Amino acid sequence: MKERIVDVLRKDPSDELIAIEGWVRTKRDSKNVCFLEVNDGSSLKGIQIVFDKNTFSDLAALNNVTTGSAVICEGTLVASGGGGQSVELAASALTLVGECPTDTYPLQKKRHTLEYLREIAHLRARTNTFGAVARVRNTLAWATHKFFQDKNFLYVNTPIISSSDAEGAGEMFRVTTLDLLNVPKTEDGQVDYTKDFFGKQTFLTVSGQLEGETYALALKNIYTFGPTFRAENSNTKRHLSEFWMIEPEMAFCDIHGNMALAEEYVKYLFSEVLRKNEEDMEFFSRHYEAEMGTTLQKIIETPFIRLTYTDAVKELAKKNDTFEFPVSWGTDLQSEHEKYLTEVVFKSPVIVTDYPKEIKAFYMKLNDDEKTVRGMDVLVPRLGEIIGGSEREANLEILESRMRALKLNPEDYWWYLDLRRFGSVPHSGFGLGFERAVQYVTGMGNIRDVIPYPRSPKSAEF
Ligand code: 4AD
Ligand code: MG
Repeated sequence: MKERIVDVLRKDPSDELIAIEGWVRTKRDSKNVCFLEVNDGSSLKGIQIVFDKNTFSDLAALNNVTTGSAVICEGTLVASGGGGQSVELAASALTLVGECPTDTYPLQKKRHTLEYLREIAHLRARTNTFGAVARVRNTLAWATHKFFQDKNFLYVNTPIISSSDAEGAGEMFRVTTLDLLNVPKTEDGQVDYTKDFFGKQTFLTVSGQLEGETYALALKNIYTFGPTFRAENSNTKRHLSEFWMIEPEMAFCDIHGNMALAEEYVKYLFSEVLRKNEEDMEFFSRHYEAEMGTTLQKIIETPFIRLTYTDAVKELAKKNDTFEFPVSWGTDLQSEHEKYLTEVVFKSPVIVTDYPKEIKAFYMKLNDDEKTVRGMDVLVPRLGEIIGGSEREANLEILESRMRALKLNPEDYWWYLDLRRFGSVPHSGFGLGFERAVQYVTGMGNIRDVIPYPRSPKSAEF
């Protein structure tokens, strides 16, 4: 029976015959003995395999093993003489499953830059960093389902191909089967989308929220967890063109219940990572963001600051001379402002609420002042916005007038407006950017390094 290396490393030395399988990270050869370090992705640490060249029979196979080779090794666990591990495998048999030519294998023993590894994304999961990121990402996905399932939220799958712009921001990728060299036209020269695959214009979704709301207004508490797409020309370290989002939606819930859920969810994610990925988190602290464990622990234990946009602007305006983009009431908060609030003023995550209606999406509930809306963004130190959400506008007339003010056609959203016609209730929800969460807990500087195959402007290799 082949075992996972993570399980083998926890065992005590014994005469039991053990087999592991994986990829060779390093090989150290001398006259009498050969050491392989083999990793199977089950943990950051690989296992050290020792071959006594005086007794090991299959030296021909051993000679052909190189960095990157796939091997199966059999032997017994013995106490390790070297530092770094308590046990090692004294090999009695070796199968070289897949050879790996050293002269062309792009991953050598030395440390590679993250930029180089992005170019070989199909192989980068074989490095310590990307193995650790993949395990942490898995924990966060698992914890997401656990968190919402334990609260009896229903997991709903919203469409990926959509005909409506959920954010009203016009940042959508078109989905079409029309021949680009021979586009059908209407009599007045426009593109004739009735000839397109779906008989109308369609796009990749920017958010599952609107469809999610339709299920919340029947089943009360739901969440989505799916891919979303933004044709936004932002080449930054925290934007992707394709990213995953978790969007809970709750009927009979106002912005306060929404903020409470967001805070509880973020804290749960962080605590699960600390509990399940101790070794990986220690690695990230050592190589990427010092004291990450302590930082997360402090966030888990401290209530998030709640602050209105108006108060945030008052605080920020005091420092306007230090910002690249000075703030005044009505301007959107930039990354530098989010950093200043979370890192300098409060040294804590901050939930900013009640933004000017002009800078937020059409569906957010209008406050009595008619100037601000019940939006809420959760900002965290270093990264800025990790969650965006709101209480939704539940009043039909107000929602329609908000759409018109933002140059959207209410007719395009007829089914969404029906929710306000038939049994409308206060309801709220938010979206957590999954890669932002992975980026935050790992301390990885660039969001392109926390998703297996990042998509960004001018880049969609693999
Ligand atoms: O603030 P956003 O645009 O909100 C929505 O999409 C709402 N429909 C959510 C809801 O209320 N159900 O996006 C939500 C989150 C952001 O806070 C951010 O973490 C992440 O999604 N996000 C991105 N992550 C990576 N790359 C991008 N281009 C992102 N845009 C948003
Ligand atoms: Mg947002």
